[in-house]
Amino acid sequence: MPTFQTVRGMRDLLDQEAQALTGIISKARETALLYGYREVITPVVESFELLNAKAGEEIRKRMFIFKDLGDRNVALRPEFTASIARITTTALKNEPKPLRLFSAGSVYRYDEPQRGRFREFWQSNFELIGSNRPEADAEILLLTDSFLKSLGLRGFAFKLGHMGVLRGILGEEDMDEKTQNAIFQRMDKKEYQEAFKLAPTERCRRVLEGLLQLRSDDCFETVEKIKCYVAGNERARVAVENLDDILKLVVANGCPVKVVEPGFARGLEYYTGMIFEVYTPELDIALGGGGRYDKLIELFGGEPTPAVGCAHGIDRVALALQAQENKVGDEREKRVLVFAVNDALKVEALKIAQSLRQSGVIVEFEVMGRRMAKALEDADKRRVDYAVIVGERELKEDAVMLRNLAKREQNVVPVKELAEKINS
Ligand code: HAM
Repeated sequence: MPTFQTVRGMRDLLDQEAQALTGIISKARETALLYGYREVITPVVESFELLNAKAGEEIRKRMFIFKDLGDRNVALRPEFTASIARITTTALKNEPKPLRLFSAGSVYRYDEPQRGRFREFWQSNFELIGSNRPEADAEILLLTDSFLKSLGLRGFAFKLGHMGVLRGILGEEDMDEKTQNAIFQRMDKKEYQEAFKLAPTERCRRVLEGLLQLRSDDCFETVEKIKCYVAGNERARVAVENLDDILKLVVANGCPVKVVEPGFARGLEYYTGMIFEVYTPELDIALGGGGRYDKLIELFGGEPTPAVGCAHGIDRVALALQAQENKVGDEREKRVLVFAVNDALKVEALKIAQSLRQSGVIVEFEVMGRRMAKALEDADKRRVDYAVIVGERELKEDAVMLRNLAKREQNVVPVKELAEKINS
């Protein structure tokens, strides 16, 4: 048989990498608790039709699609939002609003593998369902801020935009949604010239081009510029007022918004309102993103339900932390090897191991039948802190030998004081 490697774009995560990932997810879960989000677990495999509905061109062509053995068209989820919208119209249909839902898990996109871009990656996902108010948008931004700060990440900043401004402008030209989406896909990839080519009229092209020039270093100044620019367009005017309200709420609460970008669009097609992404200087790709999607739940057969949410790319957050030499998930608890000097002492040694575990001590039990010197040498190499050596003589006194492997010191310690001694 050949030796097998992982499939291209898929990774084995070992030790520090695995710890970083689970450590970051734990922090996301703590954030969810603090903000009152319930955790839901949805399947990795969903109907292709559901995932395809508003995925947008970019994600649509990168989905892992297959037929299951029952001839159903299914796909691996490329994100969580479609699944959450689905349960909002089914299992959670009769629940009072707002619904606050948190999920964490792996998602799949056939992206070109490179630094920070994988085919299987991890997201923490938050959705706030049932409110169309700016407080709800602000909450999604603030919880992202809290989450990243709780990890000790430095220097991150938010970029904000609003789909209502863009849709307001393009809608004025009676442009159908499909063409609008095609333009947004190009803008998302910063292919502005390609986007302008799709504008149906010269006037529309000029309006779009003009909009992109409105950036300023101060986000409130940009908002004022957009307000003037769209003055005659009711939908765009309401949208920019909404963006202003959200901005005031989050900036006053310490959320580092660096830019408001009038030409900012996102790849997913369900966004209707505020959109955002968050960046750090160490990576030129987003650590997270999201926005408001007020029409998706209705599209899946639910009542018209406004919603806003976001997802954080856990792998990218891990890369950014690593670049800042911030070791999340590396807080080590003391580790212990329990070793029975002879076979007759195995039962007693195992009892000691079990009672240490009950006291919260991490215990490995010697299972290789090795001689003591070999077992201790191996434990030391693997950074185990202590060996608990269970021998006949000490056991008669209800004690064991506790050996500090790094210092090569050992003392007889009563069994009942063992856990305390190890943890001290
Ligand atoms: P998204 O921007 O497509 O949004 O993905 C969110 C985050 O997932 C990105 O900012 C990035 O950190 C990470 N990500 C995306 N692709 C990759 C990849 N190939 N490798 C590693 N990380 C990646 C969504 O998924 C929306 N569902 C967010 C949302 C929730 N909007 C409303 N509710």
